[in-house]
Amino acid sequence: MDQTTMMLFTIGFVLLSTGVRSQRPEIVNEILPEVKPVGGIGRLNCTVVNLSLRMQVVWNFPSRHMVISENKDIQVLNKKIDGRWKYEVIRTENLLRTTFKLVISHLTEEDSGTYNCYVKMETVDYEYWPIKKGQLTVQVPPTIRPGSTSTVVEVEKGEDVNLTCSATGIPSPNITWTRADGGTLPTGGALSRGHILHLPNINENDRGIYRCVADNNVAPPAEHKAQVLVFFKPSARPVETSVGQAENKLFDATVACIVSGHPKPDLQWSMKTNQGIQTINDDEKHLIHKKISEMLKDGEWWYSLTILNVQANDYTDYICTASNIYGQSQAEIELFSTIECQGALCPSLGTLNMATCTRPLTWTMLLTVIGLLRLIMLWR
Ligand SMILES: *[C@@H]1O[C@H](CO)[C@@H](O)[C@H](O)[C@H]1NC(C)=O
Ligand SMILES: *[C@@H]1O[C@H](CO)[C@@H](O)[C@H](O)[C@H]1NC(C)=O
Ligand SMILES: *[C@@H]1O[C@H](CO)[C@@H](O)[C@H](O)[C@H]1NC(C)=O
Ligand SMILES: *[C@@H]1O[C@H](CO)[C@@H](O)[C@H](O)[C@H]1NC(C)=O
Repeated sequence: MDQTTMMLFTIGFVLLSTGVRSQRPEIVNEILPEVKPVGGIGRLNCTVVNLSLRMQVVWNFPSRHMVISENKDIQVLNKKIDGRWKYEVIRTENLLRTTFKLVISHLTEEDSGTYNCYVKMETVDYEYWPIKKGQLTVQVPPTIRPGSTSTVVEVEKGEDVNLTCSATGIPSPNITWTRADGGTLPTGGALSRGHILHLPNINENDRGIYRCVADNNVAPPAEHKAQVLVFFKPSARPVETSVGQAENKLFDATVACIVSGHPKPDLQWSMKTNQGIQTINDDEKHLIHKKISEMLKDGEWWYSLTILNVQANDYTDYICTASNIYGQSQAEIELFSTIECQGALCPSLGTLNMATCTRPLTWTMLLTVIGLLRLIMLWR
């Protein structure tokens, strides 16, 4: 080998090695955002070209101050659950490209955020290291935040109220308000969007249950109910304005009224007599009941008064009076005399009082026919 050839080789070698040294690695392709549900597996690809031996590809998670991996080595506490590591880096090579795939399993809400992939180069200032960001979104179904959500709200008529419904979830849930009974909202329409439901100038018809639903398309949606109680003067109405019953046969009669009001009204039954209005107590002659009924709206109560063994002097007007600190309201029900027993509790077929009951004719006819048939049988 002569000197010229030696020099050419040397120059060539120097050129080649400086060339190699000046080759800059680069992260090619964007790191595609990953969206996965809680408990799932997230994968982020970092693909590097012109990688040399003295460089490390690093994944970190700045929001939790974590350097997760260097090349294939996991740098954080790593646990294997159900046969899967929490963190894993899978390295694959394809021509000049090397991919470091970060695999995060058993996803929780805390895994959501931005991950960085960078190429650590010992001889280069870190500011010049190639870096790219990858977004991992862990979907979390909505949950209502109880502390900042209205549950029971008491208001005076004419006041303004804001019902709030606060929910967490990823992505951030959309919140809608409706009335639990399907009715129209005081602001019009059946549905209101947004976490605040504004109820201006409240009146007693606005009382009731309001429902908020938080939904972010990650099942299941969360639901919450808020009750609005409006202070108002009671109102009383009869269930039936008049009730009939036959006298002197141990039959009972029941009169009833439905009352509303807030605070919950006190109820007093009374009756008109020749001596004026007389209050009625629960005694051997009168039974007073509060009843549950599906007919009732929120903040309504059903009260009944049963007059036992109706006698001539029981035929009069009965009055229910509902009162609270805002005032009172009355409803009147008339008890009138009938010839036959009225109501579901009338004595049934075969008892002495059968003839006085509401539909004696058909039964009598039926019995007659049966009797005749028996007679015919006997004759044979
Ligand atoms: C990551 O890269 C591998 C090949 O290296 C490919 O099969 C896979 O689809 C990529 N995944 C994502 C989420 O980009
Ligand atoms: C990688 O290095 C080669 C030379 O070896 C160069 O031609 C190419 O431009 C480099 N690629 C990138 C993306 O820098
Ligand atoms: C209710 O919210 C509205 C805005 O949505 C605000 O203007 C109003 O002051 C709030 N009212 C109350 C009673 O907080
Ligand atoms: C919230 O509602 C808007 C409009 O209906 C919709 O485009 C968006 O996807 C919803 N967001 C979620 C998280 O469901």
